[in-house]
Amino acid sequence: MITAVVGLQFGDEGKGKVVDFLSGFHGIVVKYNGGRNAGHTVVTDAGTFKFHLIPSGSLRAREIVLANGMTIDPFYLVEEIRNARAANPDIKVLVSRMAHVVTELHMYLDTREEEARGALKIGTTAMGIGPAYEDKYGRTGIRMGDLASPEVLKAKLSLMTRMKASLLKGSKYEKPEELDRIVAELAGAGREISGYMCDTEVYLDGCHGRKADILFEGSHGTLLDVDFGMYPYVTSSNTLAGAVSVGSGFSFRRVHNVIGVVKTYMSRVGEGPFPTEISGNEADRLREMGHEYGTTTGRPRRVGWLDLQLLKYSIMINDVDSLALTSLDTLGKMSEVRVGTGYRKDGKEITGIIRSMKELEGLEVQYRSFQPWGELSDGQVEDMMRRGKEAMPDSLKEFITFVEDSTGKPAEFISLGKKREMTLVSGVFAGRVK
Ligand code: IMO
Ligand code: MG
Repeated sequence: MITAVVGLQFGDEGKGKVVDFLSGFHGIVVKYNGGRNAGHTVVTDAGTFKFHLIPSGSLRAREIVLANGMTIDPFYLVEEIRNARAANPDIKVLVSRMAHVVTELHMYLDTREEEARGALKIGTTAMGIGPAYEDKYGRTGIRMGDLASPEVLKAKLSLMTRMKASLLKGSKYEKPEELDRIVAELAGAGREISGYMCDTEVYLDGCHGRKADILFEGSHGTLLDVDFGMYPYVTSSNTLAGAVSVGSGFSFRRVHNVIGVVKTYMSRVGEGPFPTEISGNEADRLREMGHEYGTTTGRPRRVGWLDLQLLKYSIMINDVDSLALTSLDTLGKMSEVRVGTGYRKDGKEITGIIRSMKELEGLEVQYRSFQPWGELSDGQVEDMMRRGKEAMPDSLKEFITFVEDSTGKPAEFISLGKKREMTLVSGVFAGRVK
């Protein structure tokens, strides 16, 4: 089975939990976009694990692949592999020679670029991701394969400093000895990870040939896609499921199943339109109950209600087969549960996706309210695991059926708590995943 998991909102939908769950069935987990800006939390009996660069499936997968579409901080890679090995000692790691390297220079530039943007700032994670992709598409980037060659590193870093001279002005990176230090450190990290380097696209084709089960783990969320998201308030990579092809060299035609992860309320870090955003006490309550603080930056996340209009767009652009609904346990504890069903402006219906702050002005969101289902006890959740939807409180069942009917997609993963086993699974994976 070849499966792709993508977030259908602004990131932080709970992909980590779904991927961890599915990695019990797929021996190979592949990441194909983004870098350290991603952040996934997985809770198991052994503890809480946070992943950024390496897949959330790293606790259980036999093999993990970091494909060409990624931007990788090599020092961080070494650290995360070490952490993963503590839980999964035999894990095999493969890293594409063509993935791009994020250096401390890129991180510095990320912050300087944000300052330069002023009112147009994006609210990035400051992890150097944007500048690393700028270099990739500007054809001046450093690839993982270059770590083996100090001369190439030196030449590329000095080119970078010449091209970015105005942003680096007054910084320590104007000094040649600093560049020598970075080259030496990068080459050192390169030696540590040289054994992982390979042509991952060829490797994955071989895996497909022997009918291996492969899981593609998307980073971020569809509405952060550099083309289809709310540009410019997006990340610098393509986050939609189709990016599997360009981000890993593995044809999207071979993917059997696209699972879209949907948080049943919404959150967003950074700037940009958020039509169903809420504020005040209600927002504070939701943020606290859902622990809505960035995994990567610790920033408090903006929160709001599920937006069906945006969700339908994300389902279309990813050609999603089934939904994974997350955080229902948190949502049910609110004193009122709402879902945005559509938009109006000046009395007229607005169809499609809102992309700019200008389009957001004067927009009215239509809502449907649901009776909250309250706190779910462990006993109640266990009963649902045994008897399925039948054991759910009526209001919860009504909410899920409404989302399924409105989108035309089955909710085949229903997450009812933080732990791995608190997930109700139906459809192709029912009974197959432990
Ligand atoms: P996961 O994988 C939430 C947001 C940033 C910022 C914008 C651009 O955990 O779901 P960047 O550093 O990528 O240039 O920042 O994108 N962003 C995310 N928000 N979860 C993520 O990933 C994100 N990755 C990027 O907050 O608004
Ligand atoms: Mg995140």
